[in-house]
Amino acid sequence: MKIILLGPPGAGKGTQAQFIKEQLNIPQISTGDMLRAAVSSGSELGNQVKVVMDSGGLVSDEIIIALVKERILESDCADGFLFDGFPRTIPQAAAMEAADVPIDAVVEIQVDDGELIKRITGRRVHPGSGRVYHVIYNPPKVVDLDDESGDPLVQREDDTEETVRDRLAVYYEQTQPLAVHYKSQPLIAYIEVNGQGDVSEIQSAISEGLASIK
Ligand code: AP5
Repeated sequence: MKIILLGPPGAGKGTQAQFIKEQLNIPQISTGDMLRAAVSSGSELGNQVKVVMDSGGLVSDEIIIALVKERILESDCADGFLFDGFPRTIPQAAAMEAADVPIDAVVEIQVDDGELIKRITGRRVHPGSGRVYHVIYNPPKVVDLDDESGDPLVQREDDTEETVRDRLAVYYEQTQPLAVHYKSQPLIAYIEVNGQGDVSEIQSAISEGLASIK
């Protein structure tokens, strides 16, 4: 199955992706994670995108489309994949359609802005594994340390309140139009989920939505 996880920054896409990929045995393709890996590696691409990411803007469609097209050719994508944070613009969606990559379902996670800001500013991550915590909602066993490795947790550079507001503005302007785009396509199941509540409740709602289209 080929699925798109849509939702504003902090909606819980990465959190829920962990469950969906295990349930369906498909890889998670997070363009945010791919870009952060490029930044950490110090590659030319990483240096090019870091400023844009830190400011809360979007990396160019050209770069993103090339990265994703290359990734979905890998063998683990043969039975499907879960896009997390992609597509984020109409041209990115159009590029998948032009490349004949048919999407089965879009899962939209809906959360209001006040809650998104609390979630993002309280998020802490383990850079080595990508494990995600929250200082209040999902704290590590020991403050600021990863549960499994004991390594220090960090705050993403784009997780400040000011940058989050910019990321939200970019989301409403450039990414939200994708909801109308996909809802108008009869062959794509569109599943809307209330993303406020327990992680497990949201997981169940997504799971039921996906089971209903299989
Ligand atoms: P990306 O990494 O994709 O960030 P994002 O979309 O802004 O999403 P986040 O990772 O911030 O949030 P999430 O929805 O995954 O939430 P999470 O599960 O972590 O992109 C970063 C940047 O890269 C972009 O700004 C852009 O510059 C660039 N980029 C990426 N893709 C691009 C593309 N396609 N085109 C162009 N540029 C691109 O949860 C958040 C927090 O909330 C965590 O602390 C978590 O523990 C907590 N939480 C989760 N669920 C709950 C719950 N139910 N209750 C309470 N707390 C919860």
